[in-house]
Amino acid sequence: MKNTFEMGATMIQAVALNDEEDTLILLDQTKLPNEKSFLEIKTMKDLWEAIFELKVRGAPAIGIAAAYGLYLGTRESKADTYDALYTDFKKIKAYIGTSRPTAVNLFWALDRMEARFLKEKGKAPQEVKDALKEEAHHIRREDEAVCEAIGEYGLSLLQPGWGILTHCNAGTIATAKYGTALAPIYLGESKRYGFKVYADETRPLLQGARLTAWELKEANVDVTLICDNMASIVMKEGKVQAVLVGCDRVAANGDVANKIGTSGVAILAKHYGIPFYVCAPRSTIDLKTPTGADIHIEQRSAEEISTKWYEKPMAPEGVKVYNPAFDVTDNSLVTALITEKGIVYPPYQENLTKIFE
Ligand code: MRU
Repeated sequence: MKNTFEMGATMIQAVALNDEEDTLILLDQTKLPNEKSFLEIKTMKDLWEAIFELKVRGAPAIGIAAAYGLYLGTRESKADTYDALYTDFKKIKAYIGTSRPTAVNLFWALDRMEARFLKEKGKAPQEVKDALKEEAHHIRREDEAVCEAIGEYGLSLLQPGWGILTHCNAGTIATAKYGTALAPIYLGESKRYGFKVYADETRPLLQGARLTAWELKEANVDVTLICDNMASIVMKEGKVQAVLVGCDRVAANGDVANKIGTSGVAILAKHYGIPFYVCAPRSTIDLKTPTGADIHIEQRSAEEISTKWYEKPMAPEGVKVYNPAFDVTDNSLVTALITEKGIVYPPYQENLTKIFE
């Protein structure tokens, strides 16, 4: 696929390995949009916290950070045989795997690193460590190409001048580059499609307001921020011709877990007859999970809703809070899944397996 992303060069990289120092550099996404600062990750505890606290977030970016982290953690091991190194590797892998449960990219990347470890069977520890570094680089580079392909396929479904609603942030900072749901928008922008993007603010952690609105504005894309409860009115007013969202895990039957609130947007889109597209790299499609009901939904702390980022509490002290971080959109509400291997339409149970053949 031809590289048509003229804007790519200016895009910020959220996850990178500092090759000279062998440290992981992460854009601290909790500081955006007020501060563009980077963290240098030196310990596995720092990496775990960065993922858990959403300093690095978005399914593909979490996977890339985990892969680099697993390399860096293994590099610290003093083991002097292949088998002893594998014991240390497995411990680090298990630890990173407890950071967040829903985005399957985390486990996909960790498993892929393990497959590489096993491929180097019997080699000296230093050679295995070098192979792990190479594999983590592959994962990052591949994600960039995957997002570019999703951009091309996604754009083929859109027309110039359309209004596009998106939820949460599935942009360049959630991936290696370009994003998934935002990739068709960036590509369209480079071809002067003149999209008008509506970004849901995405309560409670405001990924839409803090991140999507920020990165699209930086790229000079026409973006309008709305509160989550305004999606219906902008649809009713005819301002939205398509919804594009990312995802954290797609089950084998096409049910989709994504940021809390996504399923409500899908229900609204169906009501107003607007296509609802989910941009899904194959690293996010989990054929081992049969349906959405089998997806582990992360529950997060009450303070994210009641006090976090507010000067004063926004809820009575001690009130009961329910804070699921994701919801599952039923496959019947998904018009199509946009993958790097093409656009997948229902029946998903049958058609999803084809893109892995
Ligand atoms: O909790 P977050 O910010 O990690 O949730 C992110 C999302 O829900 C994204 O839509 C998804 O990971 C896709 S990112 C390309």
